[in-house]
Amino acid sequence: MPSQTAPNPPSAGPRTVFLETFGCQMNVLDSQLVRGQLLGLGYRFIDRWEEADVILYNTCSVREHAEQKVYSRLGWVALHKRERPEVVVGVIGCMAEREGLDLARRFRQVDVMCGPGELDKLPMLIDNVLRTSLDRRGGKRAAQAALQGNNHRRSTTLAAAEDELELLDLARSFSPDEHQGSAYVRITRGCNKFCTYCVVPNTRGREVHRSPDAIVEECRKLVDSGVIEITLIGQTVNHYHYDHGAAVQVNGVAQPQIGATVGADGPRIKAGSRVTAFADLLYRIHEEVPDLARLRFVTNFPRDFGDDILHVMRACPRICRYLHLPVQSGSNRILKLMNRGYVVEEYLELLDRARAALPDVQIASDLICGFPTETQADHDATCELTRKARWKNAFIFKYSPRPGTAAIERFTDDVPDDVKRQRNNELLAIQSVISREVHEACVGKCVRVFVESVTDRRGSPTNAADPAVELRWQPTREVTQLSGRTDGDLIVLFEGDPSVVGTIVEVEIRSAAALSLFGSQVNEAIQVP
Ligand code: 5AD
Ligand code: SF4
Repeated sequence: MPSQTAPNPPSAGPRTVFLETFGCQMNVLDSQLVRGQLLGLGYRFIDRWEEADVILYNTCSVREHAEQKVYSRLGWVALHKRERPEVVVGVIGCMAEREGLDLARRFRQVDVMCGPGELDKLPMLIDNVLRTSLDRRGGKRAAQAALQGNNHRRSTTLAAAEDELELLDLARSFSPDEHQGSAYVRITRGCNKFCTYCVVPNTRGREVHRSPDAIVEECRKLVDSGVIEITLIGQTVNHYHYDHGAAVQVNGVAQPQIGATVGADGPRIKAGSRVTAFADLLYRIHEEVPDLARLRFVTNFPRDFGDDILHVMRACPRICRYLHLPVQSGSNRILKLMNRGYVVEEYLELLDRARAALPDVQIASDLICGFPTETQADHDATCELTRKARWKNAFIFKYSPRPGTAAIERFTDDVPDDVKRQRNNELLAIQSVISREVHEACVGKCVRVFVESVTDRRGSPTNAADPAVELRWQPTREVTQLSGRTDGDLIVLFEGDPSVVGTIVEVEIRSAAALSLFGSQVNEAIQVP
């Protein structure tokens, strides 16, 4: 909401930036990299947008709801700019890519737009607008600065030319102030899968894999700076592969590579070429960064998930026993319309393989309900799969038609919203019973927890929506409640000292609910690894 007090004058010292992030882990990492870049140039980050010289929204286009939030922010910002016209407003990330100059035309309060494929240019764009506004403070800005639609340029020239976006990752800050023991490392950008509902291949471009040497080096530097947990990220991490025979170096830097097509018989790679596949990458990081306590990765594509990955996970105790395997639907007919490239039976076979190789693995999924033409029978099939799969949790979304996707072109959004909502609730109810059972199996055990944050200084329940939580968590005194995750990604809440945030502690689990476990810390921070 806009400030009720008089607006601050433009700051005389370093420019202040407010940056809000919407969407996935990829955006969280992009925001961290943007932050690092701007800090390096002398900008200062603040928590109150009303006081900032530069307001940035790192946006997500995956569902309409995420975009609506940004439109609402832009409404407030328009009012704010009536009083502080010199403030620079930037929309970065997927909305900037998807909407392009249309957005800048419709929202005159937006000064800078920058798609996810051009974030290395963001400081230059902001600087251009700031310089313009210096001369024209109080007046209409002379120009908006926008970069968009360039993921295609990157993809086609990548094999032969320097990939500037790689420099953004390479230039990340390793300052301990920038992490609390945990960090994301990008291994793949973009996506080639073209699921018919999904906007990501349009906004982030084709799959591009970073060189394994750059990834291992980044992990090593992060660990040297105090990181103990690394999450490798990519839209389909298990399809990572880097063909050393085709590697290109520019100024001594191994360049990222456009992904080869992964078919039913695996990636097509030239005979005799040496390849680092995802399993090899995991193994290299585990072996070459021995002080890393936890190595995790998201997200996986259920097709072509090889046993080699499961074998490496089993052989490497510091790789987390967690797999995010989004299935999207339990109906083979709908999976086909979604262009997912697998059937339910193959998905279940993968779960069996994973659990046979890693008996303590926890698996999570994503589901979309109300995809065009979804019948009651299709929905029943998704309910049945949910019961069989026994995920630790599932993220359930109502289908949202997205501009530029195949689904919006080919199908009418014909499942009414109330039916989508009802199916969503039904799936949530089924999954909630299973999640509770998965959690209850942990009661009485001691688990290692990477402590992420202080959730509540009074110790009242965070999961107030779940009545069981309230029954079991009724503090009678002032306490600090901490939140963390097991290596199977189960959420654990416990009382503790905030100084253990960013470390791994042992917690005895006393009770369980659908969303989390509750326990007591049994020792000080564990020496890792
Ligand atoms: N509508 C609803 N959910 C979607 N997702 C992606 N695109 C859409 C869409 N158009 C969901 C998928 C994906 C997660 C990140 O978002 O479940 O796995
Ligand atoms: Fe979107 Fe499918 Fe790629 Fe995931 S795999 S990012 S759902 S196109």
